[in-house]
Amino acid sequence: MNEETQAYLKSAQKQQVNELIEWLRIPSISTIPAHKPDLLDAANWLIKNMESSGLENVELIETDGHPLVYADWLHAGPDKPTVLVYGHYDVQPVDPLELWETPPFEPTVRGDDLFARGASDDKGQTFIHVKAVEAFMQTEGALPVNIKFLVEGEEESGGAEIAKYVPKNKEKLAADVCLISDTGIMSPTQPIITYSLRGMWAGEITVMGPTSDLHSGMFGGAIHNANQALAELLAALHDTDGRVMVPGFYDNVTEMTADERAVLAKVPYGDKELLAISGAPAAYGEPAYSVVERIGARPTLEINGMWGGYITEGFKTVIPSQAHAKVSCRLVPDQEPARIGKLIDDYLQELAPETITVKVESRGAGAPAFLAPMDLPAIQAAARAYGKVFGTEPVFKREGGGIPIVGDIQRELNMPVVLMGFGLPDDNLHAPNEKFHLPNFWRGIETAMVFMEEIVG
Ligand code: BES
Ligand code: MN
Ligand code: MN
Repeated sequence: MNEETQAYLKSAQKQQVNELIEWLRIPSISTIPAHKPDLLDAANWLIKNMESSGLENVELIETDGHPLVYADWLHAGPDKPTVLVYGHYDVQPVDPLELWETPPFEPTVRGDDLFARGASDDKGQTFIHVKAVEAFMQTEGALPVNIKFLVEGEEESGGAEIAKYVPKNKEKLAADVCLISDTGIMSPTQPIITYSLRGMWAGEITVMGPTSDLHSGMFGGAIHNANQALAELLAALHDTDGRVMVPGFYDNVTEMTADERAVLAKVPYGDKELLAISGAPAAYGEPAYSVVERIGARPTLEINGMWGGYITEGFKTVIPSQAHAKVSCRLVPDQEPARIGKLIDDYLQELAPETITVKVESRGAGAPAFLAPMDLPAIQAAARAYGKVFGTEPVFKREGGGIPIVGDIQRELNMPVVLMGFGLPDDNLHAPNEKFHLPNFWRGIETAMVFMEEIVG
């Protein structure tokens, strides 16, 4: 990158942050229906900024849910690669609100960090690419590659609409590589290439006992308590090491090779870091796998919520009629979400005593896991870009979180996906006091620019 561009980037830093702050003020929480107008506002804000940054054919795409945003710049020439940038402008809910030091939609800079919901996940990281385009336009008047953007507004609620859109618009979205910044790095000086994401199955379990709540004095001891029955069923889902006991759950799980385990062993993250960030008293899980492997390469079945019976103030001697649990699985290659849901249902039906009935319902379509070969040329281009800008070669890691559309982009659009993120492990994603480390934001812009140069070869 030449000196003129370096100088431009330095002079533009403040303005870039001010623009991001404007976008972050819009509370685009996709899972809460009352925020629907805010999602439209956030999409329209992005459109305006894309236009003034030099992108063309900027378009709001209406869907049955929240809109998509498309934009492109296709003048590098047919001999140059085309990059498809994906991101999401929706954010997670903010509760518990009282734990935020400054309000989630009043973005605040403290030290080197910008605090706001969506700062890192994913407005800040999506914005990196818009500002990289602008920097090229301002300094060179052109980009080294052709570029397309597809930004969605419901990643945090499952991505159903983009999943319909992608297979129907293969030509419009055609590109040589998809570039995504919606993952993290290890520290401000240690970049990471994420080459795998876990998939997802989510559902709800209902245990039904008597037709209505009963007096525990009149019926207790003779009628099975639905809360107790649910606890008994849930307790049978794992062994004491955290291994999932659902028959068939591990059938299609691909084991890592020794080579891959050696790569993951280089990630500087273990029990110490896990406990420091989580605040938990001790690590948990399958003893045969490292923490990085448990999080990235092993599937889970989590109990996200349980309720039933009397849970408000005071005391009530009741036998509840129903008990509920929300559960979800993080999946790895090659587990299939629908099959996993069926296996859980079969197992619970099998276990259920005749004193109750149990129902398992899937929520959403689920998403398969994503895995890319580390030696892909596009991934190597990202590794070089990180190396040049950060001065440190990236480590390679599997991520435990997911981005539902990534598998479809890889398969339906038939292109490699590069996950080149800039978040930090303590960015408080989905939690109070989400932040983005501003030096990562600015370095991200530079890395995105160098990636474009590197992918041209
Ligand atoms: N950006 C995250 C995925 C992620 C999480 C990357 C952690 C790196 C570290 C994404 O926005 C996300 O939160 N995905 C959800 C998907 C779900 C709501 C369908 C997830 O993984 O829970
Ligand atoms: Mn995200
Ligand atoms: Mn998220």
